[in-house]
Amino acid sequence: MIIETKKTLANVLSHFRDATIGFVPTMGALHQGHLSLMQRCRENSIRVASIFVNPTQFNNKNDFENYPQSFDTDVEMLTSAGCDFIFAPSVEEMYAEEDNRVIYFGQLDKVMEGQYRPGHFNGVAQIICKLFDIVNPNKAYFGEKDFQQVAIIRHLVSKMNYQTEIVSCPIVREADGLAMSSRNILLTPQQRQSASIISRALFAAKEKTGTMPLAELKRWVIEQIDNTAEMKTEYFEIVDRNTLEAAVEYKKDSLQGCIAAYAGKVRLIDNIRL
Ligand code: PAJ
Repeated sequence: MIIETKKTLANVLSHFRDATIGFVPTMGALHQGHLSLMQRCRENSIRVASIFVNPTQFNNKNDFENYPQSFDTDVEMLTSAGCDFIFAPSVEEMYAEEDNRVIYFGQLDKVMEGQYRPGHFNGVAQIICKLFDIVNPNKAYFGEKDFQQVAIIRHLVSKMNYQTEIVSCPIVREADGLAMSSRNILLTPQQRQSASIISRALFAAKEKTGTMPLAELKRWVIEQIDNTAEMKTEYFEIVDRNTLEAAVEYKKDSLQGCIAAYAGKVRLIDNIRL
């Protein structure tokens, strides 16, 4: 069932007070990565997903305007994956009044995506607050593909006292290792081929971790990517998994390698536990 207004969604969900409500927020253009979240979400008796391309989290107007959309297939995919309610509001419905809230995330939004996409996580936090306020889910599902986003959401939930449990789900990859992303369809065949260097470099870095200084490992990864046709690294950071602070030395089981790279004009992200 597709629902377009906050009021209707709140109304419909109020009939299921005794149910456990699971929620998967998305921006549409769905792929198996999104569906893996909905599959996990089946552990709840009521499953809700949202499809909303949230303008406040785009710091680049072009990126927002070119964001892929495939609403009808998205609805089919979600429904066959066990989704009961699909919330698909308009921008006016979600932002009738301008949202001026600024949320303080300390170090978490100063680095990586936060550094290169100023305001991005504030926009994510705004929309997640709005959605959680309406859906009030018992559990909400997020992909580790957006590793920093999961850290931000966990912080937000604790700060705002939401009772929602945040479940993080593993990255779903294409056969050649490329992390699935709605943006992958924007790649030319050449860029698509080149883009697989991102995950190959990350997997190789995992093997090399502990055998060389982290600064050298970082340089090696960046070199692999920048030496590939049409590829350009924006950042590759090795950070503490919890604080996202840059790591200076190898510490077993506590580091994450996070990368953003361009394939032509398409910006892709990925990460790996080191
Ligand atoms: P979107 O990019 O559509 O992603 C929706 C959810 O799917 C996110 O939690 C994301 O991490 C997850 N996801 C995307 N690709 C994945 C993959 N290859 N494997 C596993 N999970 C994957 O992230 C957003 O939307 C927005 O910021 C949102 C949270 C909806 C707020 O607007």
